[in-house]
Amino acid sequence: MKPFQKLFLLPVLLFFLSPLLANEGMWLPLLLKLNEQEMQSMGMKMSAEDIYSVNRGSLKDAIVLFGGGCTGSIISQDGLLITNHHCGRGRIQAHTTLENDYMGQGFWAKDRSGELSNPGLTVTFLSRMEDVTKAILSNVTPDMDPATRQSTIDQNISRVINTAEKEAHEDVTVRSFYDGNQYFMLVTVTYRDIRLVGAPPDAIGSFGHDTDNWEWPRHGGDFSLFRVYAGADNLPADYSADNVPFQPKRHLKISTKGIAPDDFTLVFGFPGRTNEYLPASAVREIVEVTDPIRIAFRDRSLAILDRNIRRDPEIKIKYIAHMAGISNGWKKWKGEIQGLEKANALAKKEQYEADFTELISSRPEWKTRYGTLLGDLKNLYRDREPYLRALVYYSEFLRVNTQILPLADRFERLVNAFQNNGQTGYDEEVKKMQAYLPGFFKDYDAGVDQEIYASVLELFATGLNAKYLPEGFLESMDESKGDFQAAAAALFSQSVFPDQKKLEELLKMPAEKALEKITSDPAYQINQMLSGKYNEDILPPYRLFSEQVNELQRLYMQAQMEVFPKKRFYPDANSTLRVSYGKVEGFDPRDGVHYEYQTYLDGVIEKHKPGDYEFEVPEKLIRLYERKDFGPYVDHTGKVPVCFLASNHTTGGNSGSPVLDANGSLIGLNFDRVWEGTMSDIYYDPSICRNISVDIRYVLFIVDKFAGAGHLVSEMELIR
Ligand code: ARG
Ligand code: GLU
Repeated sequence: MKPFQKLFLLPVLLFFLSPLLANEGMWLPLLLKLNEQEMQSMGMKMSAEDIYSVNRGSLKDAIVLFGGGCTGSIISQDGLLITNHHCGRGRIQAHTTLENDYMGQGFWAKDRSGELSNPGLTVTFLSRMEDVTKAILSNVTPDMDPATRQSTIDQNISRVINTAEKEAHEDVTVRSFYDGNQYFMLVTVTYRDIRLVGAPPDAIGSFGHDTDNWEWPRHGGDFSLFRVYAGADNLPADYSADNVPFQPKRHLKISTKGIAPDDFTLVFGFPGRTNEYLPASAVREIVEVTDPIRIAFRDRSLAILDRNIRRDPEIKIKYIAHMAGISNGWKKWKGEIQGLEKANALAKKEQYEADFTELISSRPEWKTRYGTLLGDLKNLYRDREPYLRALVYYSEFLRVNTQILPLADRFERLVNAFQNNGQTGYDEEVKKMQAYLPGFFKDYDAGVDQEIYASVLELFATGLNAKYLPEGFLESMDESKGDFQAAAAALFSQSVFPDQKKLEELLKMPAEKALEKITSDPAYQINQMLSGKYNEDILPPYRLFSEQVNELQRLYMQAQMEVFPKKRFYPDANSTLRVSYGKVEGFDPRDGVHYEYQTYLDGVIEKHKPGDYEFEVPEKLIRLYERKDFGPYVDHTGKVPVCFLASNHTTGGNSGSPVLDANGSLIGLNFDRVWEGTMSDIYYDPSICRNISVDIRYVLFIVDKFAGAGHLVSEMELIR
């Protein structure tokens, strides 16, 4: 290399040697020693050992994976658990009946005997985790083809699991980190008798609904309370009336002292999935292909859902949860595209790749190993793209936005059961189907489904290259002369699937007759035709490409860590326990606009819109506000704080995560991010990425003053 080139490289190197931008990262709690100093310099008063320790009780013993997709924490000696309202919502809805409108009115168990059991709900504690990379990768060699490599790894994983030291009630798993460059063993304990203790009405817990979702300023009281029950030995047990409240190793203390700008914040939880180390080519694919297709489909269903929900209260009850699900992704992806553009993420990734390329050319062994890596990845992403595009079209049409097709798909189980296991197999499946249908139809309206079907069918049939549609599919459209409304009307009038009564009658018929009706049904046939095409011509090539993509992503991860040895890399989220730290801070989303870090009850009242289900405020809350009956739950301004902003790096799965102060006391529950910063799953920009939490003082205010459940507050350990 010529001397002047060396000089030229220097600023680049310095850039990468400097520490990561503060606040970015989802760190492994057992490796926090590496971050301890920085965390303390940001104001933290704890040690890494206070947060995670295997030798003594630590904060991690109070944190749980809640129900598979959220986070919860233990806040009393008697196993009281707090998580988000939207995490417990399915359970609250399941207990809701006409007489007991817990969704509408809220639910508060009078005493422990009134706490409601939730079959299937579990919470999982982490006992410890251990780096087992050596054991997993020892006999894996670079020349192995992907399949051999994977089967070798799988064997090693089984061996590690089978020989792990553990208690009888513990489970062991091995998980891959850094795209398969590192492996950790997780020893966990799962409790399975989890009871509902309290939940505010939807008008508090989900206040603002989809309109406010992903946005600031925010005014939701997004919390609910559960209790973990255990057998007499304090170990996990199936539900039994004899079970007793679980006595945790550790519970969180709650601070009502309040927050101020720049206060240290720590979020402890189970973030689901991030992709922070993708090359620009993959980010471009998200911005130009995946996100826009999903958004286009959902634009259509959401417009129809919103109109119908506002028109008819019965449809609202049926579709509000379904709509929240569709809308949640839709809005996030819109923010993601815009945020990536605003942060100039593509150009920055390209610059990073140029620096990477320059560095690897400085060492021959890097050059041989990684010289073609980025180019190969780019080509692979490009070649995979048509299949990815088709895959997204199929899943949005076939599984996400329509309901008749997923239902028809479920009936394939009957067909298969009869084929494989004859009458007995069939009878079993019929029983399951009979149990399933009432729940499905409780939340189903054929008119709404048909309207959405017609609208998304048009997108599916015209947006996707005909090559990726089954033969005969477009011809079948021709009968309705390109009139998708007519095509949908014909389908819904001819098919038995939109009609609960007819379906239930069908299930009472002799197997052969029923199966003949099912398999000749037009909705069943459309689903078969499309899933057939998908399973034969789209999924297999997509998988083949993805296998190679994953292998190269692993190499790229390894290369980045090798080429930038001083840069601290945190592993992408994978639903394992992580810590992210930041501080209380607002931000400036765009020129001339500043977002304060805190909202107040005043804002709830400001947003109140009688008659609009999204912004309804319960009578009692209005009265408390008018009388200023706030109890001790006010800050220095005399107002009740509701939500706050901080700069912790979070993602889906962090819902319900405790937000802790410098001493590890609970000050809030994470439940969302700002729209401008949702691209942090792919690219974190400290100037626009903020997480949104409900202030613990609002939680206490609602429990104590609104619900009159002061006994629950007494059960907690408050630091005033
Ligand atoms: N955006 C939050 C999350 O990703 C909250 C979702 C629930 N609320 C809603 N209105 N859909 O999960
Ligand atoms: N609401 C999300 C969840 O359910 C958390 C928000 C986010 O994606 O950051 O996990």
